[in-house]
Amino acid sequence: MVYNPQLETFIRVADAGSFNKAAEQSYITPTAVIKQINLLEADLDVKLFERTHRGLTLTKAGMSLYNDAKYIISYCRDSVTRYSMTETVETIGKRNSVTIEEHYLKQREALNTALPIGVRQVETMRTMLTQSLAVLMPFNVQELNDKGGCYYGINQVSKNINIGNRKKLINGNGFVFGVPGSGKSFFCKMEMGNVFLGSKDEIIVIDPMNEYFDIAHTFDGAVVNMSTYTDNYVNPLDMDVWSLDLNDSKGMIREKGEFMLGTV
Ligand SMILES: Nc1ncnc2c1ncn2[C@@H]1O[C@H](COP(=O)(O)OP(=O)(O)O)[C@@H](O)[C@H]1O
Ligand SMILES: [Mg+2]
Repeated sequence: MVYNPQLETFIRVADAGSFNKAAEQSYITPTAVIKQINLLEADLDVKLFERTHRGLTLTKAGMSLYNDAKYIISYCRDSVTRYSMTETVETIGKRNSVTIEEHYLKQREALNTALPIGVRQVETMRTMLTQSLAVLMPFNVQELNDKGGCYYGINQVSKNINIGNRKKLINGNGFVFGVPGSGKSFFCKMEMGNVFLGSKDEIIVIDPMNEYFDIAHTFDGAVVNMSTYTDNYVNPLDMDVWSLDLNDSKGMIREKGEFMLGTV
């Protein structure tokens, strides 16, 4: 015990108003209680109780000690719990890369300083790097929510969904990069599904690995197999002869002619 145990007995006696009752509560004999109080009085060299035939009353000195003794006892008890709580909080802080500084007996000032009300009541200063500063900015997140767009995953900061529409960009082309197995094909198929279900756009897949056969089948798409061993060919001279313009205003015949001359 870090404080004089006589203080505890003193509080008990003062609360109970009698040595006997206090003894009962403390599981010791009344004689022992009286002895402790006498020792305390002798130690302090003041009288703490008026002993009358009607019972015990606190003297002025006793009254003063009574209040402070309660503080002393509760402070002593708290100091141990406070220490272990401080350790716990510091450990949690370290785990989240937060340095925690103690502000013993300055708790209120430290809390006021931490509040966003612009007061500085403790001297603690800390460097705020861009990353930690950005966390405190309420409007730091760029949300993506285009009309008629596709689902492009979850925003890692706000945890909202990203809905993007390529057609709203100056250039809507895109590449998908990633290590094997990171989900490139999965991403493309997801986007195709979005386009198929959400718009009337055409989806054309050039698929040398025959990887998109199943999704084409699922969405009732046409599959054209083209290779040396199939009956499907691309005719580079193919033209819609029925709607051909004899003046060749669009330059189609000229283009094909140039192509043929190029092969000679
Ligand atoms: N967003 C995702 N959600 C759940 N599973 C996924 C996701 N992306 C990829 N996968 C899983 O990972 C596997 C590999 O993805 P895949 O698209 O084939 O990779 P890549 O084409 O990049 O090599 C897929 O079969 C799928 O099961
Ligand atoms: Mg793949």
